[in-house]
Parts: sequence; structure tokens; C-alpha cells
Amino acid sequence: APNGYLRPEGAPLTVVAHRGASSAAPENTMDAQEVARRGGADLIENDVQLSADGVPYLMHDNTVDRTTDGSGDITTLTSAQIDRLDAGSWFAPAFAGAHVPTLREQLADLRTRGGDLLLEVKRADSKAQVAAMLDVVRAERMTDRVFVQSFSRDHLRWVRELAPELPLGLLVGTLDADPVAVAKELGLTSYNPSGAALETRPEVVDALHAAGVATMVWTVDSADRWKTYDGYGVDAVITNRPAELSGWNQAQ
Ligand code: G3P
Ligand code: CA
Repeated sequence: APNGYLRPEGAPLTVVAHRGASSAAPENTMDAQEVARRGGADLIENDVQLSADGVPYLMHDNTVDRTTDGSGDITTLTSAQIDRLDAGSWFAPAFAGAHVPTLREQLADLRTRGGDLLLEVKRADSKAQVAAMLDVVRAERMTDRVFVQSFSRDHLRWVRELAPELPLGLLVGTLDADPVAVAKELGLTSYNPSGAALETRPEVVDALHAAGVATMVWTVDSADRWKTYDGYGVDAVITNRPAELSGWNQAQ
């Protein structure tokens, strides 16, 4: 099938809201998702990990310490414990009472109110743990609106075995010697480098395109960099400021 994530000539950059609109609302919360939706994001990015009782939640760090009023490694906390946490007060008093969403809750909201998901498998120690995340995507009937990314090549191999219909993106902080070969080996729809990594060899964007592979660059919040990466021909930009990137797109 043709790669629908490749940007046609002259089309705007695809706007991916990093952990939701996380410059304006607490990351990985329903508030961040709503602000991103209103700001015109094409995709919402999140980070998914399992609780001690195997429920997929949105959480970036290994511990809940930075982004909630609790403490401890999320994989040691039960869903009953996680559901009691305040995930908004640390960001601003106006968000007091925001909770840590389950992946199921997030997907249900996207399905009914609009929006596609860039699901980052942040931590999973086994194929069974990845399967628990994909089971929720299936149960919410969202397999046609979810794109999976990870820094872990094992995670991507497991997703490919479990749900070959899902598009895959590989996150990299340093470019591979041959990104096209890696993309082919893993069956990637997109190769997702940091901005700094991409700047070391911008020509990889064209090489990937020639192989039918898109590029999503992270995490880019300034118009100066949007212009640079637009010039490289990247397809999507992952940003904490989706409304501003949408506005920048329209001004081009
Ligand atoms: O989507 C790219 C980015 O989210 C990867 O890094 O640490 O923010 O999850 P991190
Ligand atoms: Ca992420």
C-alpha cells in the first residue's frame, strides 16, 4: 500500500502534538489532548506503560514523581493507586484534579471526538506487555487510527508480529549508518530522528522518501527549526506547541 504519511509536494507539515499540547497543558492528560485537538493537531503523541496490574496508562517517566502528586515507579503501582493521582497541579493550579488517563480512556475520547494517535511504547519488557497495549487499541476499534513508535527495535518487531496492519516509526537519537536498510528490515512507515540527529545528515530524508519511508522529527518548538526541517522535506514535526505549528503552516 502507498505510504499515506508521505507529504505531497507543497502540502503543510503534519502536526504531531508531543504528549498532547504539553506547552499549554500537563503532558499526557486529557486536557493536553483537548488543547491539541482545538489547536489543529493531526496526531496526538503519547507515552504508554503498564501499571502493576497490567493496565496501559499514559506516562512518560519511569516514575510518577515529576508529573503527579505521588511517587514510585509506575510499574509498581496498581491502577487503583494511579487513578487517585493528581496529574495537573504540578503544571498549574488551573489543572488541579487532572488524572493519569488510561490508554482505553484516551482512545475512546479520540474515537468519539476526533484525532489520531501516535502511540509510543515507552516501556515493555515482553511481547505480552506490548500485546496488552494492542488489545486496548483493538477493543476500542482504533487500529486504523493508531501509529506506533518506539526507541526499541524489539518493541517494533513485537508490534509487527502482533498487529501487522499498524504503521511503525523508529525513534532515534543518533542516525543509523543506513537508515533505509533499517527501515526495510523493520518494515517502517516512518523513521523518527531527533532534530539534532537529523541535522548531522539531512539528506537521509530524501533517501528515505526514495524508499517510500516518511520522516517525523522531534521535538521541535521554534519557527526557525520548523523552517529548516520543512526545507529538508520532513513529513511531520512532533512539537509541544501544535497550535503554533498549525498557524505557522497556514502562514507559509
Ligand atoms: O515523539 C518523540 C519523543 O516523544 C521521543 O522522546 O522522551 O519525549 O518520549 P520522549
Ligand atoms: Ca514520547
